[in-house]
Amino acid sequence: MSTQLAIEGGTAVRTEPFPAWPVYDEREERNLLEVLHSGRWGIGGTKVAEFVQRFAAYQDARFGVCVPNGTLALQMALHALGIGPGDEVITTPYTFIATASAALQQGAVPVFVDIDLNSYNLDPTQIEAAITPATKAIVPVHLAGRPADMDAIMEVARRHDLRVLEDACQAWGAAWRGRRVGAIGDLGCFSFQSSKNVSAGEGGIVITNDEALAELCWSLHNVGRVRDGAWYQHEIIGGNLRMTEWQAAVLLAQLERLTEHAARREANARYLAEALSEVPGVTPLPWDDRITGHAHHLFICRYDPAAFGGRSRADFVAALVAEGITTASVGYATPLHRNNAIRRSVAANLARVGRKPPLAADGLPALPACPRAEWATQHTFWLAQNTLLGTQADMDSIVAAICKIRRAWG
Ligand SMILES: Cc1ncc(COP(=O)(O)O)c(C=O)c1O
Repeated sequence: MSTQLAIEGGTAVRTEPFPAWPVYDEREERNLLEVLHSGRWGIGGTKVAEFVQRFAAYQDARFGVCVPNGTLALQMALHALGIGPGDEVITTPYTFIATASAALQQGAVPVFVDIDLNSYNLDPTQIEAAITPATKAIVPVHLAGRPADMDAIMEVARRHDLRVLEDACQAWGAAWRGRRVGAIGDLGCFSFQSSKNVSAGEGGIVITNDEALAELCWSLHNVGRVRDGAWYQHEIIGGNLRMTEWQAAVLLAQLERLTEHAARREANARYLAEALSEVPGVTPLPWDDRITGHAHHLFICRYDPAAFGGRSRADFVAALVAEGITTASVGYATPLHRNNAIRRSVAANLARVGRKPPLAADGLPALPACPRAEWATQHTFWLAQNTLLGTQADMDSIVAAICKIRRAWG
């Protein structure tokens, strides 16, 4: 193997692509054609109802409501939980923006609590200190498909009478101590966007074990209708957040593949983590035996420049991509408490209820520091969702590429 790095003109460790994405076969095609020929492309079709029933059961939940995407799922779930202006919602700053923007769009304010660097999820030991009389809910994220510590989160929520909304947008099939995530708290949201392990290009679902919340979500997603009501009977104000039959047709086929994919992801994740444990400077997140299902949507590693001759994380990821590990990226580059759109929106929502946050030198709200999330945005790299669907040889090529870079720089 060439020792010269590909980024400096050497031969790459691999040139073949990782598994093609999205994954589909004749099952998606058959289901889509069924919808086409049924003439029922929206309301009146059977696919959405069938998917709701199957997916909710898969996640150990009694009820579900399909919506167009995960962002709207989160916003509708917060609405159903009664979250609105003046309310605070505790969440993590190391997540996709929608986790926090959903609260902001409800007129509420996200309060960021730092993460645990062993899980990259909300650190439950820090939640209590962030609770104020305005706190109404906790929104843990099961980042990369790894369940957050639901024992500790549910315990603090019960003690303070807070609602729990699980952002499970990356966590299809993930389970915490034998129970799949999403309906451990009051409500849980999943995404079926293009990059997701279960995908229809776009799509989302809210699940729950609470029948009253399920009915409220159903009404909110269907312009305030009630299940057995007349077509033009609208009992509350809701939106049109209905999923199409096309999306459900694809999702039903995707679901058939989920168990086999999950097993492949799990085997590859364990193999890769074991192999990388021998490589200084690159640290996969440690396993936690309370996790009884991990969606392995992303493979997350900490990067230590000291083991790579002080070279930056950006240099490392560029070198890795050049070696043919094209699914590598730096992941979230800004923690949400540093995002200026979020900070402006926090100021606006607080002003609406007559509150003024302390300001930083830039004139925007000084949100409490989350040093670990900040560290994570600077010292982490991810492997994308199709990586772990590869072969063991694909995993070996990742280790080989990292070792090659280390030899060149270390
Ligand atoms: C953690 C998290 N929350 C929310 C979302 C929003 O989902 P969507 O893209 O389907 O709107 C995503 C996905 O992008 C996500 O990863």
